[in-house]
Amino acid sequence: LYSSLLSPLPVARWFVQQIVQDGDHVVDCTAGNGHDTVFLAGLVGEAGTVYAFDVQRSAIEETQKRVLKHGYANRVQCILDTHLHVGMYVPKQIRAAMFNLGYMPGGDHQITTLAEETSNALQKVLNLLLPGGITTMVVYPGHPEGKREEEVLNSFVQTLDKKKFAVMVGTFLKASADSPKLIAIQKGICEMNETGVHK
Ligand SMILES: C[S@@+](CC[C@H](N)C(=O)[O-])C[C@H]1O[C@@H](n2cnc3c(N)ncnc32)[C@H](O)[C@@H]1O
Repeated sequence: LYSSLLSPLPVARWFVQQIVQDGDHVVDCTAGNGHDTVFLAGLVGEAGTVYAFDVQRSAIEETQKRVLKHGYANRVQCILDTHLHVGMYVPKQIRAAMFNLGYMPGGDHQITTLAEETSNALQKVLNLLLPGGITTMVVYPGHPEGKREEEVLNSFVQTLDKKKFAVMVGTFLKASADSPKLIAIQKGICEMNETGVHK
């Protein structure tokens, strides 16, 4: 069953849409076929920038094609490198980052995001986030590395300072326990105390 609303990716996009404004800088950490890059490019407008990362040349080419088709070439930088190096390419603070993990649909299933690399990249992305900015991750535990990735990320988000970050780990009741999960992390605008009240 696919729900166009109650599935991780549509919910991730909805969150991002609430927060990203015209002129913002945002990151697509896993460009793949470029669908999320184009989605983000639509949100940031002509004055904004999307930095889109992928380790596969074919993914970057596919993303560039899709970006061109939508007339967004001036606002997207496609980067053939791991998202772990995000800090080397993104000069400013960002309003949002999206990770759509796993392997490229229709591509080589052996080339997949890797648990430790993903959690290290997540830390780097969180350092770049503006107050109020958001990071979303869609996690696919239906393959072995994805299962490990889910476990590593679940442990990592537990270590985040909850006075500084609001963290949601979402699951959707589906036929399979291995169905995709959503992690969303928003950086606080000001610090919260233990009961969630602004200090
Ligand atoms: C599920 S696909 C992304 C789908 C994409 N967001 C879209 O809208 O079409 C995951 C992508 O992550 C890429 N990837 C794997 N490891 C990566 C890394 N360390 N840094 C950046 N991208 C990576 C894969 O090559 C693959 O294209």
